Amino acid sequence: MSSPLYQSPKGVHDILPDDHLYFSFIKKVVRHRCRRAGFRRISTPMFENVDVFTRGIGETTDVVEKEMFVFESKSGKKFALRPEGTASVIRAYLEHGMQQLPKPVELYYIEPFFRYNRPQKGRYHQFHQFGFEVLGEADAAIDAQVIYLAYRINQDLGIADQLSLQINTIGSVADREKYKEDLIHFYTGKERSLCEDCKRRKDKNPLRLLDCKEEDCQILASMAPQFEHVMGEASKDHFALLLEYLEKLKIPYTKNPRLVRGLDYYTHTVFEFWSKSEGSQNATGGGGRYDGLIELMGGQDTPGLGYSAGMERTMEYMKEVGIRPPNKDKVQVFLAQLGLVAKKRSLSLLNELRERGINVVGAVGKDSVKAQMGLADRLGAKYALLLGQIEVQENTIILKNMEKGCQETIPYEGIVDKMVQLVGENKLEDKRLWEE
Ligand code: HAM
Repeated sequence: MSSPLYQSPKGVHDILPDDHLYFSFIKKVVRHRCRRAGFRRISTPMFENVDVFTRGIGETTDVVEKEMFVFESKSGKKFALRPEGTASVIRAYLEHGMQQLPKPVELYYIEPFFRYNRPQKGRYHQFHQFGFEVLGEADAAIDAQVIYLAYRINQDLGIADQLSLQINTIGSVADREKYKEDLIHFYTGKERSLCEDCKRRKDKNPLRLLDCKEEDCQILASMAPQFEHVMGEASKDHFALLLEYLEKLKIPYTKNPRLVRGLDYYTHTVFEFWSKSEGSQNATGGGGRYDGLIELMGGQDTPGLGYSAGMERTMEYMKEVGIRPPNKDKVQVFLAQLGLVAKKRSLSLLNELRERGINVVGAVGKDSVKAQMGLADRLGAKYALLLGQIEVQENTIILKNMEKGCQETIPYEGIVDKMVQLVGENKLEDKRLWEE
């Protein structure tokens, strides 16, 4: 087969109907769980002034240094396609006076994002995240609630047992400044053993050296000073309390002192959900506390925290472990017709069935009953209705159960109610199957 004239650019992709079943299901679960927990939805623009991200995420992070799609307007203003949601949500929070709202302010989003990193499985130039942010509360119980929400969503999606929650604390800003000094001191004189990225980052962002994937850097990181030794009592208490809450909520976790995350705004709690089989390679989601971010972006000192998960990675993971979302697109009824009077009656019957919530297809452009029934088969319709000239004259209709292969002629009167009842019984059956 020759390749098509046009193809989508590398790193971006179409979401085809079968994948939309996953996306719709993920969105439904996220909306449901977020609403239940008092979150309200927010959408920010696809691009922002570049400073929102350089300031919010941090100039020396990979995301800002290497992965942003930056462009200039005709008047010379610099914009960036959003690489993540948190900085934009904080910008919107401050811009729209949401500081005046009762605290905590709880917002969630389901949006596309853009990062210019090397495309590979689970890593794209355009991808989707769902995420949530809680602004205005410093208590460790809020961290536990955010982690619970992420975990609960994973449970609803059927993947919680295959993911491991990795959790760490990176302390307060003051703790970290002290720790950074210790790390710079430790790495000074050992630069030759570091990869090029780590050499460059050593003085500006030495924390990132701890989660470098290069073997030599990992060996050095395992010998580096431990954060615990510089962490203040308040930070230790916050973390200890959070772990207690997680135990109370029966959320299994793994303490991972090497987890630092790639964005600069984090303080105290950081966490990620890793695949138990693939480790950190394809984290489905991650988040943490960012108590200094709102102030950094021009607001008053306000604590915050949040989480976001990649929808493509979540979907791929659901597929890998064999989770199939309910198919809301499934054709439930096929309506076949023969002859002009039957076709006329079919047109209104199709609409009546659709108005009553049934997914029904009628091939009114086809005249051969054989071709129509072949299509009903291929679409996987559970029921077919057949309307010919005789049926119209006698005011009847043929109802065929496509799975069982049996059919009966029944009165036309009341057919819509009957189909609503039959399809409803099947929906219940499908729901039971999904929940099993
Ligand atoms: P992040 O860890 O950079 O955090 O991204 C969260 C998730 O987005 C990742 O775990 C991954 O599933 C997905 N993701 C990231 N980059 C890509 C990519 N290039 N292709 C496909 N999926 C990707 C954040 O974005 C923070 N804003 C999370 C947060 C919210 N922290 C506090 N509040």
